[in-house]
Amino acid sequence: MESYEFSSPTKVYFGNEIVKKALHKEKEIIGERTLIVTTGGSLIRLGYLEELKNYIESELYVYVDITPDPDVEEIREAIAIGKQNNVTSVIGFGGGSAIDAAKATAVGVASDVDIVEYLLEGIEPPSDTLPIIAIPTTAGTGAELTKGAIVSSRLKKIKSGIRGEKITPSIAIIDPTYTFSVPSNITMETGFDVFAHAAESYCSVNANEYSRMLSEKAIAIVGESLPELFKDIDNHVAREKMSYASHIIGYNVRNIGNCLPHRMQYPLGVETHTSHGAGLIALYPAWIKYESVVNEKHVQKILDLLGCIKDEDPSVRIRDWLVKLEIDRNITELGNTLTAEELNKMVSGNLANDRLYDKEDIVRIIYEESM
Ligand SMILES: [Fe+2]
Repeated sequence: MESYEFSSPTKVYFGNEIVKKALHKEKEIIGERTLIVTTGGSLIRLGYLEELKNYIESELYVYVDITPDPDVEEIREAIAIGKQNNVTSVIGFGGGSAIDAAKATAVGVASDVDIVEYLLEGIEPPSDTLPIIAIPTTAGTGAELTKGAIVSSRLKKIKSGIRGEKITPSIAIIDPTYTFSVPSNITMETGFDVFAHAAESYCSVNANEYSRMLSEKAIAIVGESLPELFKDIDNHVAREKMSYASHIIGYNVRNIGNCLPHRMQYPLGVETHTSHGAGLIALYPAWIKYESVVNEKHVQKILDLLGCIKDEDPSVRIRDWLVKLEIDRNITELGNTLTAEELNKMVSGNLANDRLYDKEDIVRIIYEESM
């Protein structure tokens, strides 16, 4: 068998209504003063934030103004609260945006360098970055395990990552009951993101036997559970399974990484103010088609596991699946006004993770086919 490396330093708690017990067990890591970083909104309305505050045994500060695709301005505000009160840990509570913002806050509180410099210069988080406790409330991003925080600067029109081992959460507490009240559209889009992580890590040149096993399991769960949730959004067993799939594929996001659709979605999302899942959905049929040219065996396996119809054209197979869940859309429908050339310039990173090497051409082709 091929050799590989695979790691995760995060202690995981998974289960319904497990948060209180987990926070109590981890009170030494949380320390004397902690800061909750969250998106507020429905987490306040549903009483989840108040409940969480009651579980915490340390002196507590809360920042509730994180928005989707968190902006450096919000993170600067959270960092200021953390510095003023000399907090000992940061808790990210919410979807991927809240957890990424918490990670960036934990970096910023321990550092004298402005947080935007980490984005622009690619500086690694310092070793004294505060402990991060991630409590996801959606099933999708896997941010509770990853060594990156995706942050935007609307002013500078960038969405990029702060990356490094120190930004990996020390503790992840995954309680599927938080997802029970997530609206249908967000459930479908974050659920598609779980699939995208599984599919892209499966096709990656970095994939190995172990990561492919995780991908196959996650794709099969999404293929079964997301259509069930489309029929009945209150199917709690399907919700729990989606939380589990999201969680296990977080190990691949951390260790293997994603391919081209994720890199194309970042600038597209900043330009169109659309969600991560919505952008991925728009790009996928075209990407699947081109990935299939060089990686047919894996693409067919992915589409079989997802439960797609049989067809010779892989983009027809995935599009049919999206249509059945009523989430099919194209880039134009996102309100996109970028030209292919502009997007090409914005897609950052090399494509060593992808099998299609002519970056400019392939970005343009996928982009134009997604119109
Ligand atoms: Fe993603």
